[in-house]
Amino acid sequence: MMDAREAMEQLNAEAGGLHIWLRTQANAPAQRSWFRDTGLEVGGKLAKGRVGAAQLKPVAHRWRWSEIAPYLDKIAEIARGADVSPIEFAERQQFLLTNPGLGGRLQVTSTMRCAVSIYNPGDVAPVHIHTPNASRTILSERGGYTTIEGERCEAARGDLILTPNGAWHDHGNDGGEPVVWIDVLDFPLMEFLDCVWLDEAYPGDTEGNSRAQRVTFPSGYSHMVYGRGGLVPSFLAHRRGFGRETSPMFHYRGADVREALAGLCREEGDPYDAIALRFVNPATGGSVFPTLDYRALMLRPGEATRSKRETASTLYVAIEGQGVTEVGGTSLDWQANDIFVVPSFAWRRHINQSRSDAVLYAVSDAPLMEKIGQYRAQGRLPDDTVAELIV
Ligand SMILES: [Fe+2]
Repeated sequence: MMDAREAMEQLNAEAGGLHIWLRTQANAPAQRSWFRDTGLEVGGKLAKGRVGAAQLKPVAHRWRWSEIAPYLDKIAEIARGADVSPIEFAERQQFLLTNPGLGGRLQVTSTMRCAVSIYNPGDVAPVHIHTPNASRTILSERGGYTTIEGERCEAARGDLILTPNGAWHDHGNDGGEPVVWIDVLDFPLMEFLDCVWLDEAYPGDTEGNSRAQRVTFPSGYSHMVYGRGGLVPSFLAHRRGFGRETSPMFHYRGADVREALAGLCREEGDPYDAIALRFVNPATGGSVFPTLDYRALMLRPGEATRSKRETASTLYVAIEGQGVTEVGGTSLDWQANDIFVVPSFAWRRHINQSRSDAVLYAVSDAPLMEKIGQYRAQGRLPDDTVAELIV
């Protein structure tokens, strides 16, 4: 008997030169059955035999820190020996992660870009502004800074530093050791929407050749104004920069996150996310960006979550400990600084097999999906039945 899908593939290979793609039910695009339970293994795999050759789908993937980190040194080495001015390298010494399912595009999901950046002593990225929302998750113990709208945020491991849409910012390292962080942006989404705008003509004063903006707020301003949960100054507008629905708190300290997680360690937590904290816009309680939601998850020794899937993609950074995340039929083991991605609608669960706590930071495009009326989530109950989590 003829394999209809295979036959369609062959026919489409012939037809490809005419820039047409022949479709029947046998090779329908990767439209998925409407929340039918398709088992734990389905979803998040490279589609095969069902889609046009150039169709792209993000897949589950993990980037091991031990494998990718050496490339930071290699970039730095080239920069040192380069015959161009240091600033041309200093501005952007980074590599971008590419999802293997997206054909080499500079994106980890359909909405998110992720880069790993290194700032060597003396490196500066001049002040600029753009429409994509961006964040830094700091991996180095300490060192480096980002100044946003006149607030200088000194970086330390586990910090989340936001540069929202419409906020002037510059980065640098005036310490003695290299500094490494992870950038996450909603760049691909903005690109798709034809909404990427960038400006470098800062209207205020800058300092030195590096064009860093002047610091106009006291050190620790974000923490001073917003660092006490439940208390928000009533005399401030809570808008910084021209972006809308972005958090006026630019700096979330890793030490605060860790302390808050530790304080909750005896709570039951969420069956799917364990002890989970959201980084929120303190003025509204909403996500820090209109497009992206950030969380910190703590898995206690031996803890395993139940399986969940949702119509949102999530990027994870392992901050502490080690564990495994099962995505569809794939097991992604991780340890500190590893980065992995879980595509939309793939079943996933996290397991901490070690004897110490594990902490993951997660970025998801769920707020976007909620806003367009597409967010749904399901979980597997202990008896393996599937429950709607959003009703
Ligand atoms: Fe930027």
